Amino acid sequence: MTFREGPVTIVRREDYAPPPFWIDTVDLVFDLDPAKTRVLNRMRLRRNPDVAPQALRLDGEDLNLARVLVNGAGTSFRMDGQTLVLENLPEGNDPFELEIFTTCAPEKNTQLMGLYVSQGTFFTQCEAEGFRRITYFLDRPDVMASYTVTLRADKRQYPVLLSNGNLVESGDLEGPGNEGRHYAKWVDPHRKPCYLFALVAGNLVAREQRVVSRSGREHLLQVYVRQGDLGKTEHALSSLVKSVIWDEARFGLSLDLDRFMIVATSDFNMGAMENKGLNIFNTKYVLASQATATDTDYANIESVVGHEYFHNWTGNRITCRDWFQLSLKEGLTVFRDQEFSMDLCTTPSARAVKRIEDVRVLRTAQFPEDAGPMAHPVRPDSYVEINNFYTVTVYEKGAEVVRMMQTLVGREGFRRGMDLYFQRHDGQAVTCDDFAQAIADANPDSELARQLPVFKRWYSQAGTPRVQARGEFDAAAHTYTLTLTQSCPPTPGQADKQPFLIPVAVGLLDAHGRDLPLQLQDAAALTHGNTLVLSQASQQFVFTGIDAEPVPSLLRGFSAPVVLAMDLSDAQLLHLLAHDSDPFNRWEAGQRLALRRALAAIQADGAPATEPLDAGFIEGMRAVLRHPTLDAAFKELALTLPAESYIAEQLDVVDPQRVHTVREAMRRQLALALHADWVWAYEEHHDNGAAGPGALSAGRRALTGMALTMLCLAARETNEPIWPGRTYQRFKDAGNMTDRFNALSALVSSGQPLAAQALERFHAMFKDEALVLDKWFALQAGAPDRGGDILPRVRQLLTHPDFHLRNPNRARSVLFSYCSANPGAFHRPDAAGYVFWSEKVVEIDAFNPQVAARLARALDRWKKLAEPYRSAAREAIARVAAKSDLSNDVHEVVTRALAD
Ligand code: BES
Ligand code: ZN
Repeated sequence: MTFREGPVTIVRREDYAPPPFWIDTVDLVFDLDPAKTRVLNRMRLRRNPDVAPQALRLDGEDLNLARVLVNGAGTSFRMDGQTLVLENLPEGNDPFELEIFTTCAPEKNTQLMGLYVSQGTFFTQCEAEGFRRITYFLDRPDVMASYTVTLRADKRQYPVLLSNGNLVESGDLEGPGNEGRHYAKWVDPHRKPCYLFALVAGNLVAREQRVVSRSGREHLLQVYVRQGDLGKTEHALSSLVKSVIWDEARFGLSLDLDRFMIVATSDFNMGAMENKGLNIFNTKYVLASQATATDTDYANIESVVGHEYFHNWTGNRITCRDWFQLSLKEGLTVFRDQEFSMDLCTTPSARAVKRIEDVRVLRTAQFPEDAGPMAHPVRPDSYVEINNFYTVTVYEKGAEVVRMMQTLVGREGFRRGMDLYFQRHDGQAVTCDDFAQAIADANPDSELARQLPVFKRWYSQAGTPRVQARGEFDAAAHTYTLTLTQSCPPTPGQADKQPFLIPVAVGLLDAHGRDLPLQLQDAAALTHGNTLVLSQASQQFVFTGIDAEPVPSLLRGFSAPVVLAMDLSDAQLLHLLAHDSDPFNRWEAGQRLALRRALAAIQADGAPATEPLDAGFIEGMRAVLRHPTLDAAFKELALTLPAESYIAEQLDVVDPQRVHTVREAMRRQLALALHADWVWAYEEHHDNGAAGPGALSAGRRALTGMALTMLCLAARETNEPIWPGRTYQRFKDAGNMTDRFNALSALVSSGQPLAAQALERFHAMFKDEALVLDKWFALQAGAPDRGGDILPRVRQLLTHPDFHLRNPNRARSVLFSYCSANPGAFHRPDAAGYVFWSEKVVEIDAFNPQVAARLARALDRWKKLAEPYRSAAREAIARVAAKSDLSNDVHEVVTRALAD
């Protein structure tokens, strides 16, 4: 991030040019001091023979420059803004040495980019452009160098000194001024772009384990944390071991280092970072114990540990040529971590649950992004601030693009493609084109290879395609004809779209709910037995041998990131809900039924219905809840109504209060109408005692938690004291955080009087557990609004002695939970929510633009709002945009939001 000096600079993908110099080696010496750290940077450079001779322009930010030497002698240089320009470098192609000495102030670094101090420990964060805050450099991913790093610091305060690669030397420093100081020297055996550089220095302890990989090589795996946290590292370390094993088994990719370290910090802008051999993690994705972490936390830790580990190959060994190619590593690595989590599931149903959760993220966060002012292709064409493009589109939609490739070439074909990708590009900085080409070339007979240019539109065109499906049964001809038509709405800068290549996995159900054998008139049009490939604006597929009208089950497993529109009757959807062999579509049928009812109530004239649900829907839900073989985790997902934000996306004009009121009415109705069933669900699934591990028991806890919420909601209507009392008791007696937090949440979200007491008790119990306090703050800021009570509560929370705006986790726990995750409370007719938002965006922007810019996106979809919300939101955004010293990050978000 940079604060704007004059007009903003737009970076364009088409302007990519290779670097005029290569940096082959980097030797860094750090004298670590929170107030003034000295950095000696000695590099070996040479001119890039493929580029016309020109000056060397080194990126830098907030550095104090003390000395520049070329081959040991002084040289002329000048500053162009923050850029260090060297014009008189040696001519010719021989390597030369460049030495740069700078200082910086880690303790003043509130942005948490570059070198900073968190609780007395030094950390770095360099992706995307943070290395330039440590030393002058060609801060771009296509410049890959070999690093040697020496850390020098006070031994008592910083006993542990870590950097990338192997520790080759360490000991006490000698000589005057070095009393009590020590050093460590690290050499990274692999070339890397500077965004993967890391160092950590502090008083930390590690849990470690040695593993032997398939090839017989031994590796040391370590998880570093603060002294008191060692007991919470078992799950992270075992997740790391599982990741190592999985990547070898599934992709034949072994760990290429003797030592692999994870270090946790409580001050981190993001979730985690894949620095070579030295991953740095937000504590949220490392620390877990039964007492402090929920089942969701455990699952997240497993997948984030996996994600960063998998980057070691997809991202680090093969990296991005430029930041427009970010999805090359992020989309692919999200796909890999999703597959990892699914492969660790022991039942097909648990796999489906994971898939449903992933799709839910895509639809509630990425679809709105793709329809809003920040819409961009998976491979963007331009940016002002790259940090703003670490988005759900690049990540989640990018992962779906990779998944579609796997669907088109099959699992084995995809493995062949990955093998070819590494054969061709190991050690290189490449593009999304290179990746797609490798997968296609390894599968020459696939639909992907045949239509690669069409497929690649997923990388270049923004927006969520809409597929309209129409089915026609011909009794005389025994055929069922499916017509699929696609379109894609315009997005900023892209008015017209070409057709996408869309794999549509299908099934046809008979009257008993069984899958009919699929036979197409044009047999070649069916890929892998069940997938239609739509690549034109409209196509027809004729199924033969059909004796009675089937119920179509389309886009099974969510085989493409599209909106599927099809006029199925309630009866057909209920049939799918009861019978579909594809668990994703079974869940989806329930969501469609619920959505249909929500939209009807929202769009009806007059005051919204207090009972939007009909008997048919309620009975369908009852059947799912009581189903003898479906498992609990699936039931919990199926009985969860579509989120307010997802419902809002289906409307042209959104009254958030009305959406909230209708969804709450639906919840209340489900709570009352299924009361006996919720009691049954609770009695049947609640276990006492410690949380058993595994998805099965986690599912039981999730359903139990939902039952309690419903029973507390019902109790609120009937003034019945038993269930709130039981919930409070369960809250007190719980043997694990999942059960305890679910009980607390049931009381809070149903507005029970006991909630206040429970919250107070919870705070007292966990006052020293930062990650648990985050949950405590988040629960209150995210609670359902009752007559405008949440905003005053939020303002009050900000004055709580445990609230710290500068700690990103704590800031997010209140501000994001309120502004981004609680639409019913945030969108107030008096505009007070928006005023609050604008104050906080500006306040945070002054010290941490990355966090501020994420918060700024809470109003992305303001144009969809009904009055008076719309005008009030625009005013709030304009107020932020009018500030003179905004960061590039926030400036880009708010100006895009205001653009036509
Ligand atoms: N490379 C990113 C971390 C990152 C993100 C650095 C943005 C700089 C800017 C890392 O691999 C990542 O993707 N982390 C995610 C979590 C992951 C499991 C999706 C994150 O931090 O949110
Ligand atoms: Zn990543």
